[in-house]
Amino acid sequence: MAFQVVRPNTGVAPLLIADGVTLEYGTTRATHDVSFNVYRGDRFVLLGPSGCGKSSLLKAAAGFIKPVVGEIRIDGKRIDGPGPDRIVVFQEFDQLPPWKTVKENVMFPLLMTKRLNRHHAEERALHWIAKVGLTGFEDAHPHTLSGGMKQRVAIARALAMQPEVLLMDEPFAALDALTRRNMQAELGRLWEELRFTLLFVTHSIEEALVVGNRILLLSPHPGQVRAELNSHQFDLDSAGGTDFQAATQRIHGLLFGAPAHGHAVEVPAAAGAPHEWSRVS
Ligand SMILES: Nc1ncnc2c1ncn2[C@@H]1O[C@H](COP(=O)(O)OP(=O)(O)OP(=O)(O)O)[C@@H](O)[C@H]1O
Ligand SMILES: [Mg+2]
Repeated sequence: MAFQVVRPNTGVAPLLIADGVTLEYGTTRATHDVSFNVYRGDRFVLLGPSGCGKSSLLKAAAGFIKPVVGEIRIDGKRIDGPGPDRIVVFQEFDQLPPWKTVKENVMFPLLMTKRLNRHHAEERALHWIAKVGLTGFEDAHPHTLSGGMKQRVAIARALAMQPEVLLMDEPFAALDALTRRNMQAELGRLWEELRFTLLFVTHSIEEALVVGNRILLLSPHPGQVRAELNSHQFDLDSAGGTDFQAATQRIHGLLFGAPAHGHAVEVPAAAGAPHEWSRVS
């Protein structure tokens, strides 16, 4: 069968380990006892309904918030705060300082972290701007760019830092359908070339299947692990095919206990979802 439960690589240590992570904001519990392993080169997707704690888990991996129980480790070290080994690309187009040009935006973290001097930072920025297809826009300011172009800048800025893990929180969710598809393809091409490690958040089943090689399904608020699945066999070309549809239906069933209707691929709101789901592990 094309769609199988994950069998983690034996003998290879995970790069990033979430170990029983419970996240809270005051009295609000965002996630409960979430564990997963991300291996080097994984395109690991956190998928679940709105409010299940996907962004919170990503923020914890970025070091912006701390678990109340459990921990996240990278290369065996507990994550205690932000670091240049983990760079986040957000959904919002305003993540780029508007007063900086494209080139200055990409150079900024390289200079701020003293990774490179100005000359080498500029060289590296130009390299990554070309990689994401923005040659000719080096001196443009963000407000003159389309949403897709802004996300390309954010991706270039992140990859220029050569992070251990690239963290992406619904980076294409605010784009129109065609641009979103193009950006998914672009990300796939970049990954084919560079094999970076990606931790990607989405609430779109289709996007999870296209982008990810492994998918962690989270229950509604507070998020708990429901299942973990392999999805490396899918890409944009297989989207819409029989196996892809079957995978979509299966994930929908795992999340909501019922098959999707028609071509629905967005994870709907959690209201009315069953409380008891079988865990796949
Ligand atoms: N800064 C905050 N202060 C208080 N509660 C928060 C905060 N951020 C998130 N929460 C709560 O934590 C829970 C998880 O939120 P989170 O944003 O991680 O979910 P999500 O899965 O990313 O949702 P979405 O798909 O809508 O982005 C929600 O109940 C949310 O209201
Ligand atoms: Mg979110």
